[in-house]
Amino acid sequence: MSDSKKIHQPIPTLPTGQAHPHPEPLSGESYSAVELMPAYRVVILDQRKLPQHERYELFARVEDVAEAIRSMMVRGAPAIGISAAYGMVAAAVAARGDAPSFLEAMQKADAVLRAARPTAVNLAWALDRLKPAIAEASSLDYAMRAERVAQEARALHRAEVAACRAIGALGAPFVPDGATILTHCNAGALATGGYGTALGVVRAAHAAGKKIRVLACETRPYLQGARLTAWELAKDRIPVEVIGDSMAAHFMAKKQIDLVVVGADRIAKNGDAANKIGTYGHACVAAAHEVPFYVAAPWSTVDLGCEAGASIPIEERSERELSHFALPDGGDVALVPDGVGVRNPSFDVTPAALITAIITERGVVQPVSGGELAKLATQ
Ligand code: MRU
Repeated sequence: MSDSKKIHQPIPTLPTGQAHPHPEPLSGESYSAVELMPAYRVVILDQRKLPQHERYELFARVEDVAEAIRSMMVRGAPAIGISAAYGMVAAAVAARGDAPSFLEAMQKADAVLRAARPTAVNLAWALDRLKPAIAEASSLDYAMRAERVAQEARALHRAEVAACRAIGALGAPFVPDGATILTHCNAGALATGGYGTALGVVRAAHAAGKKIRVLACETRPYLQGARLTAWELAKDRIPVEVIGDSMAAHFMAKKQIDLVVVGADRIAKNGDAANKIGTYGHACVAAAHEVPFYVAAPWSTVDLGCEAGASIPIEERSERELSHFALPDGGDVALVPDGVGVRNPSFDVTPAALITAIITERGVVQPVSGGELAKLATQ
């Protein structure tokens, strides 16, 4: 089929409401980015298919969970961490033999997952957090090992949802009644264990009865804003409109944006924050127009081992994500002439000086500095 024929294909408008296969999703929603099924299989909502299809895939192998993370089937820093934790449960089910063999298999699984995506520190954080439980599991009977790892992974998932709710409660007072909020990418229930970080603030403000509306930047090239943020806010009947990434400055200049709230993939010790590519540009424009710029993120996103934003690894994704437009039938169409190169860094770093406040479940960091962030480190 020629490219011109592909681009004119109608986008299928299938119903999105497939029933969630988990009897009691820890997300607390009717949908979930990731859950652990009763028989230790990992269920992941294929976010690449939204908003056309709400389709869940089941995984029993750690390599497949790692591939789901790599391929953006599941994405968003906290959701990546939770998926990795559940991937380790799958690895524990498959691991055989005595304690040293079990630990060796778990170490291999850890390495496979750790390498899946580089920028979101939540991935390494979740794997590090599981280590004591894995060590304990190695001394248990075979039948109990996976359950011990699963207990820890579920506890981590529950704690991440609770963190999102706390972030929402602490962030909602920063949202004036009647506000228009700009957000970038998707830092919602789909990007976390449930409820969301930036969208947790939005949800909590809406639940408090404030008449708010959201401008969701479409977020080229993966369109997390257009496809995912719009999907989950519309589901909750929170007013949302999608804008092109390059339109944010126009709306700020017209005083039609009251605040910006975004998530983060890694926050360095000095308060610099990495988030989806384009976030830094919004922060510069917000500063120029004196619009408050908030970063909402759980403590699992804070990397005190990383001195400053310049040390945060920035993922470069495939050129094709940018040079081609993906179509719902699985094909794609070229947007860039053949032979012309493209650059596709997936994240950028917003310096602490441009961030009005960082909202975490441990408290609000304001003004944003290494000293203020360090005050929450011991909690
Ligand atoms: O490439 P993605 O979709 O994983 O990037 C996600 C983001 O940049 C989010 O804003 C960030 O992970 C925060 S999620 C609460």
